[in-house]
Order: sequence, then C-alpha cells, then structure tokens
Amino acid sequence: PLVSTGDIVGGAVARRRGCGAFNAIQLEHLTAIVDGAEAADAPVILQLSQNAVRYHGALAPVGGAALAEARAAGVPVAVHLDHAESRELVREAVDLGFGSVMFDGSTLDYEANVRATREVAKYCHDHGVWVEAELGEVGGKDGVHAPGARTDPGEAAKFVANTGVDALAVAVGSSHAMLTRDAALDFELIAALHAAVPVPLVLHGSSGVSDEGLAGAVAAGMTKVNIATQLNKVFTAAATDDWREHPERVDPRRYLGAGRAAVAVEVRRLLGVLMLG
Ligand code: G3H
Ligand code: ZN
Repeated sequence: PLVSTGDIVGGAVARRRGCGAFNAIQLEHLTAIVDGAEAADAPVILQLSQNAVRYHGALAPVGGAALAEARAAGVPVAVHLDHAESRELVREAVDLGFGSVMFDGSTLDYEANVRATREVAKYCHDHGVWVEAELGEVGGKDGVHAPGARTDPGEAAKFVANTGVDALAVAVGSSHAMLTRDAALDFELIAALHAAVPVPLVLHGSSGVSDEGLAGAVAAGMTKVNIATQLNKVFTAAATDDWREHPERVDPRRYLGAGRAAVAVEVRRLLGVLMLG
C-alpha cells in the first residue's frame, strides 16, 4: 500500500535501521524497486527526481505510475519527489498525492537556502507532506565530484531549527553518480551530525559507497539512503548483455525485462544491507 514517507523513515529510526530510497527513471525501474522490496519484505521509498521528470516532460504520467505501483504493492511504499529546485514542481507533486519532497537549495548560500527551504516546508506541511532539504552540497550532480564537501553539525542544527524540515541531507564524503563504490565516508561526522540534528539524516550519492560503508553509515546514525546510479549500472549491464546475446530480437520487452529483473535482485540485496542492525 501507499504510505507516508514519515511512517517509513520514522519506523527505520525506531528500529535503528536504514531505509532504502531508490530513484526510478521509467516504469521498469518502478516495478523492479517494488518487486525487490516485496522480495526483501521491507518498506521502500520510490523517488522521482526533477531531472527524471524533465526527461519525461511532465510529472503526471510517471508520477501517477509510481503512485499506482505503491498502492498495489504488498509492502509499504512511499512516493517522493527528489532534488526539486522548482517550486512549481513541488506544488504539482503535492497535488498529485506524493508523500514527500526534497527541496534542493544546496547550491544557494546559507541564508537563501534557509529562506527558500522554510517557505517550501511551510507549504508542504500545510498540505500534510513531509520535507527533506540539503545543507552542504553533495557533489556530482553536474558530473563534478566533490567528495570533500562537509556539513557542519552546528550549522545543520541551526538550519533544521530555522526551516522546520523533517529530514536533512548532509555532505559526509559521498558524491552523486559514482561508478565505483569506493567513496570514503566520514563516520565520525555522521555520528556528530546525528547527535546534533533532531531529524533523520539522509545519505545522497550512496551508489559510491560499499556495502560495508552503507552498513557503517546506518550504524553511525544515517537513516534514509538514496540510491540511483547503482540501479542504472545493473539495469544497463543486464539489458545490454541480453541485447548482445540476441541482436535479432526487436521487442524491447526482452532487454528491458532483463534490466528490470536485475534491478529487482539488486534492490532486494541492498535493502538487506540497510536493514542489518
Ligand atoms: O538523490 C539521489 C541520490 O543521491 C542518488 O545518488 O546516483 O550516486 O546513488 P547516486
Ligand atoms: Zn541526491
């Protein structure tokens, strides 16, 4: 069933576990993420980024599919708008029935990020929607990796108090869209942020982190773990293998189906890593 993001994240905090938030690009990803969560018997957060919405040209077709997948799922599934910079898109997601949004003001200076995030948080809370924001830019979104970025715990606590957000994405050594899983996380900083910040922490750029790193991050106090690139790697490898084996087949369902099956297996595996406690 479709549940609120706050329920899934709150449940993970209570059990001192991580929760998986996986980015979908198209229907095969959405189905695979839900299949993987059902196989793991774990709740899951389905995410659509503003970039993915731009790829489709509109939110409603792919967002409606995500909500339908969630409602039909055999495990609790929440639907989240990821890395939104457009307030118009935030409003559309709220109207469509998304349970949460991440407003990404991380490229703004501190005061501008506080002002913009506070406004979005008020709008979302007035509509019963959970809000994540980011402080201390996690690099890599533009292809430029910046694993050296760090969020200051004192500033993070102040940011949360001044904006009223429900969760905070922090920079602790990861970077978006890494193709190797060798990011070195700063576990001491995660623990310091966990102690200083009263809301759940979110790890972005998690595809660059090893299984041990993910488990260590959760043990140190990270809760929501966002994973995108790793699923795309697995999808593309399986789809291209299938296509190379049978280049004469023209029905995309063959190779898309191979990609979908591989993503479901990887989601199940990653949820197992995040639930270790
Ligand atoms: O918001 C999405 C995540 O931060 C995904 O990052 O592609 O490096 O896994 P990733
Ligand atoms: Zn991210």
